[in-house]
Amino acid sequence: MTHVTAQTTVSLEKSQELFQRIAGSVAGGESNYVRVKNGLEMCFDRGEGARFWDVDGNEYIDFSLGYGPLIFGHKPPAVTQAVVDMITTRGVQFTFPYDLEADVAEMLVSSVHGVDLIRFCTTGTEAVSAAIRLARAYTGRDKIVKFEGQYHGWTDTMFISSYPDLERAGPDDRPRPVPGSKGTPRAAAELILPLGWNDVEAVERAFAEHPGEIAAVLTEPIMCNCGVIPPKPGYLQELRRITREHGALLIVDEVKTGFRVALGGATEYLGLRPDIVTWAKALGAGFPVAAFGGTREVMDLEARNEVMHGGTYNAHTVAIAAARATLTILRDDPELLASIWRRGERLKAGLQEAVRSAGHQAVCQGVGPLLQLYFTDGVEEITDYRSALRHVDMEKFSDFQGAFQDRGIYIHPDPLECFYVSTVHSDADVDEAIEAAGEAAHAIGR
Ligand SMILES: Cc1ncc(COP(=O)(O)O)c(C=O)c1O
Repeated sequence: MTHVTAQTTVSLEKSQELFQRIAGSVAGGESNYVRVKNGLEMCFDRGEGARFWDVDGNEYIDFSLGYGPLIFGHKPPAVTQAVVDMITTRGVQFTFPYDLEADVAEMLVSSVHGVDLIRFCTTGTEAVSAAIRLARAYTGRDKIVKFEGQYHGWTDTMFISSYPDLERAGPDDRPRPVPGSKGTPRAAAELILPLGWNDVEAVERAFAEHPGEIAAVLTEPIMCNCGVIPPKPGYLQELRRITREHGALLIVDEVKTGFRVALGGATEYLGLRPDIVTWAKALGAGFPVAAFGGTREVMDLEARNEVMHGGTYNAHTVAIAAARATLTILRDDPELLASIWRRGERLKAGLQEAVRSAGHQAVCQGVGPLLQLYFTDGVEEITDYRSALRHVDMEKFSDFQGAFQDRGIYIHPDPLECFYVSTVHSDADVDEAIEAAGEAAHAIGR
């Protein structure tokens, strides 16, 4: 993640006091590396729908949505009620199979192309770790192709070359694996073949140079951890073709895109059939739940218990009740996803126009409810991680984020995060954000 600190002029006195207290006993004051890195000392009081309040009483329209899960906004009544009903009538932790698991699994299988069987877990990190182990077990190979600028969780298995320093990351056509954290064994990094995204030739070359060694290509279907970068037309289909030709699996990480871009995720939207898919975030509308699934042939290794996948809290009743309510609501009312698309597209066009009118070079990229504003040096498109690092003005984004926050609009301070639109953002919220973006863009100067 980029190291940019939020700058805001609204009063955060109580937040800072509370933050100091928390930091006295929680390392760094936050239980999350990304938040610590971004210098977020604002402390949260409460949320309601599309808005939240900090402890100083400042009110914000929230386009960060708790890193994305809050697809129905804060405190979604139906999902919250479903969880309360479940835990007050039946209990919290079973570790025995129960009816609601079947309901959720059936909805996942019927809505996502090519998925025959699934397994539940608690976080996206676990879902991707399980998917990678499964792919290695299925193919008997160890190496994983992943892409610079994509985040798949924080473990040693995947936090490699997610946001590498270009001085350590090797040439554009031969990236080197760079561990993302101190403490990651070099040996773990050696199992990763990092590549630039949206480049079919790079993938062809990796398979040609490592015959019979690559277990899987792991990719987000739309890059959402480097701003928002859509795939070039046909790119993902080429990944599908190449992986098939070489006997490797295609793992599509839908942790951010799942149940948001379409009920069946970006795989439905883009017409893709991966071997393994991972989900989290919107699946529980804020309650912690994740899953992975795939074709029967691959998932049978889990069914036969030939691959270890564990977790005390897997299929916990809070998780499953939340997922059941979320998927039922989205399935029964397709207008909800249609509305977040419309508002997302309007926000995207409006932000770009507002910021450009204030004299900045900027481009807003997105797919429906996922978008990001890049202040650029004039390039019209960001296509991969290295183009983001070379052409995006991270400092200017940071100034803009602070000025936006001053005007009551909250987006994540990291220039490589993204905006999320929920089903409870109104047209008026979008209008307010566009107007505030124009003011913020003027306020930061050129
Ligand atoms: C695409 C993707 N995969 C995996 C993860 C990890 O999910 P979690 O934070 O739930 O462990 C994230 C988190 O942002 C993500 O964006």
